[in-house]
Amino acid sequence: MPVKKHLIIGLILLLSAFCTHAQNTITGLADPLTFNDGTRVMTVKQWHQRRRELLQFFTTEMYGKMPVRPKNMTFKVFESSNNALGGLATRKQVTVYFTGKADGPRMDILIYLPNKVKKPGLILQLGFNGNQTLSNDSAVKLSTSWVANSKTAVNNKATEDSRGKTPNKDVEMILRRGYGFATIYCGDIDPDFDDGFKNGVHALYPELQGSGDNFSTIGAWAWGLHRALDYIETDKNINAKKVAVFGFSRLGKAALWAGATDERFAMVLSNESGAGGVKIFRRGKGEDIKHLCNSFPHWFDANFRKYIGKDTILSFDQHLVVSMIAPRPIAIGSAEGDQYSDPEGEFLGGVYATPVYELLGSNGLPVTQMPGLNEPVTGQIQYHIRPGNHAVLTYDWEQYLNFMDKYFR
Ligand code: GCU
Repeated sequence: MPVKKHLIIGLILLLSAFCTHAQNTITGLADPLTFNDGTRVMTVKQWHQRRRELLQFFTTEMYGKMPVRPKNMTFKVFESSNNALGGLATRKQVTVYFTGKADGPRMDILIYLPNKVKKPGLILQLGFNGNQTLSNDSAVKLSTSWVANSKTAVNNKATEDSRGKTPNKDVEMILRRGYGFATIYCGDIDPDFDDGFKNGVHALYPELQGSGDNFSTIGAWAWGLHRALDYIETDKNINAKKVAVFGFSRLGKAALWAGATDERFAMVLSNESGAGGVKIFRRGKGEDIKHLCNSFPHWFDANFRKYIGKDTILSFDQHLVVSMIAPRPIAIGSAEGDQYSDPEGEFLGGVYATPVYELLGSNGLPVTQMPGLNEPVTGQIQYHIRPGNHAVLTYDWEQYLNFMDKYFR
């Protein structure tokens, strides 16, 4: 090949490499390893200080403050059977009485543990619906918490017809792979509508309202996950050191914040958490802050409204929340058809948190180029994207289980 032709091909390759790289580079993004005053984070000790700075920042400006564990909180295992799901699992149902009072706010945890494994780790899911909607297991308690009216709910209460209506057909696969599965209903903690923070656990903390950094709904859901983990720590049949917190979509935002704020969670599984989850706002793609704050005014704190219209010039972004999880493993799942969550923005949430993982001696996300469909990449941060829409599919669970095998086995 003549030298000139070589040169031209070389130039084209260089240009295309630059273009793909440029696509993935976001200018002006906050550096997780630089303190707000401009000092560089050089040591692990300094990172811990920087993490506290970030925690403070996101608590104030976005997710809102949270109460501490209630002093008088109690747990009651009200039902159990070692012959659940055709003998595959032991089922336990636990009520968390947040104030210790039977008529006060409470939350039910439904737990399945594989009978073949002693003291397994588990996936703790924040669910969209009452625990009875997960399967046709008739022993599961029917939720009495607020639900939106529908064919299976009358006067904002679920009816018997709601059993198995939003099934998770992959629970058995999770159990067969040797992990437990626990789920709580987000509406037990705080109903998902703008009620002026009068219901759910908010009723217990009126003093946490009225300020810019008010106790929000996503904050409350994350807090509920912390309280479920408080129970799990007391259960001698579960390995509380191997709990992966899982959430999808709005509940993925809450699971991310739960993992960022509570280091007892050994792993975070973020399924299409999108805006306010792992997606980088600065790209200006997919859902924006205006839509989040106007359509769901209760999700974030009042201060977050300051950033409406400023997505592309923010001084912070969601990779900083991911970095608060470091060095603990986090898996990020996207769907090609879920452009509203901006898959590439979700991928970059992992890419830009990676320097923190590296400082802490691990590898974060091992690539900077978006992988293809069904080509998961795994480091201490895992990323996958699959064809299809905004949902949790068997393929997604498989990726999370593979990730758990890598870090929990
Ligand atoms: C809406 C919202 C998203 C959210 C999603 C969901 O589409 O705009 O932010 O993730 O609901 O929870 O399904």
